[in-house]
Amino acid sequence: MLRNLQAIVLAAGKSTPFNTDKTKLVEKICGQEMILYTTRLLESLCMPTTVVVGHQKELVQEVITKKHGDKVHFVTQEEQHGTAHAILCARDSFNEEHILIMNGDMPLVSGEIIEKLYTKHMSTNSTVSFIVAHNDDPSGRFYGRVVQQENNKIMIVEAKEFNGDFNDHCFINAGIYIVTKSFLQANIDEIEKDETSKQFYFTDIIKIASDQNQPITTIQAPFDRIRGINNFQELWAAEHIKRSELIKYWMDHGVRFSVAQNVHIDLDVTIGSGTYIGCGVHIQRGSSLGKNCFVHEFSAIENSTLADSVTIYSHCIVKDTHIGSYAKVGPFAHITENTTIQAHAVVGNFVEVKRSVIGAYSKAKHLTYLGDADIGANVNIGAGTITCNHDGKNKHTTTIKDGAYIGSNNTLVAPVTIDENAFTAAGSTITSFVPKDALAIGRARQINKDGYAAKLRTGKQEQEDASFIGAVKTNKDTKLSEGT
Ligand code: UD1
Ligand code: CA
Repeated sequence: MLRNLQAIVLAAGKSTPFNTDKTKLVEKICGQEMILYTTRLLESLCMPTTVVVGHQKELVQEVITKKHGDKVHFVTQEEQHGTAHAILCARDSFNEEHILIMNGDMPLVSGEIIEKLYTKHMSTNSTVSFIVAHNDDPSGRFYGRVVQQENNKIMIVEAKEFNGDFNDHCFINAGIYIVTKSFLQANIDEIEKDETSKQFYFTDIIKIASDQNQPITTIQAPFDRIRGINNFQELWAAEHIKRSELIKYWMDHGVRFSVAQNVHIDLDVTIGSGTYIGCGVHIQRGSSLGKNCFVHEFSAIENSTLADSVTIYSHCIVKDTHIGSYAKVGPFAHITENTTIQAHAVVGNFVEVKRSVIGAYSKAKHLTYLGDADIGANVNIGAGTITCNHDGKNKHTTTIKDGAYIGSNNTLVAPVTIDENAFTAAGSTITSFVPKDALAIGRARQINKDGYAAKLRTGKQEQEDASFIGAVKTNKDTKLSEGT
């Protein structure tokens, strides 16, 4: 608990270097919007939090409110005139004795860093404390440089205005400050507009404090922890760091990654030990994988649960689905929309399943569409079976009870029920109830025309017969098929 400390997060800016319409603060990093890294961090530190919103404020507020309810307080900065102006807009929210101010575009900051800053701020009785990091990359054009003058005064010079030697000034301003309320209230108005950029820089508060001989303290943090995200390159770098941390965490918990650098894992995912994750796999938010599962290359699992010992072969999409233990899925299966695949079931290649239940030990191994299907245990669905669940307007259920056997290439026209242990013949169109233990045959009867094919091949067939098969031209010399 960080006593007498509140947080103000700056999230009103325009995100211009991203070159997109959307505010960067809702861009996702490992499946979570950037701003939530900051608000969740502050929540974990039990800090009362105010977020300054402005540019696309509805979007930012919506994301925060969805996560935190009404626990986070908002103030609006209608026009964005810089970070000092943003804090000025939050002036009526200054309540606690000490105020933590931080940029909203810093997704890698840890609780320990904030705690360290707070501890030092309190133990040194400082007026202003802020975090610095070492960055000797002169292209660090988004970071303010910490400049200590000969008279020991310190200031932060924004990179745009900095014309000193980057090698002599390797310390950058992280964008996280703790300021005493009284000093902030008395001095926030004193910050003047920068003549070149026409912005009010909050960083000038350091010079003001220094000129007043106020106690100022800093702590140093690793640069990777305090990276600000100002464009897609920086977002990519931050996501890489975050994702590597997640993968290393799961490795330490017994998960094997075949090509770890090609795997996408989101936050808030769980993976059981003994599980194998192949190359290019995506495990997205809300997913939980049991122990000893196999997820083969290029499959994506989103908001789904896998029990223990499930196998997902390559190139599957599994979304909003539960898969029971020892079930096998894929390759190239597409399972979505609140589907349950029960234990030991098999959903094979090129099978799509939507809003359905597939019972234990049931199998749909090849080229099948099952939509709105309620399938019992030990059912066999033949290759090429299609549930016709949509009548053009409404969707209907296909019910297939335990032990039923659906022959290959069936069309099951819903609503329809196939009762326990019934059979349907291959190639059937099933439109009505099939009773228990019955065999349903719903297809045209076969006719054989003796010698017909041979006549076609020799080209002696009459014109009307040729048109019957639709494949032969009227010219008597034309063969049925070239090369045969
Ligand atoms: C800022 C610091 C810089 C520091 C860097 C660290 C200033 C002037 N500079 O620069 O010294 O090294 O962070 O990442 O503070 N925002 C508003 N209203 C505004 C302008 C910005 O709310 O009018 C918000 C943005 O949404 C963002 C945060 O403030 O979340 C920082 O703004 P940004 O433009 O990213 O500042 P930097 O140029 O990165
Ligand atoms: Ca920034």
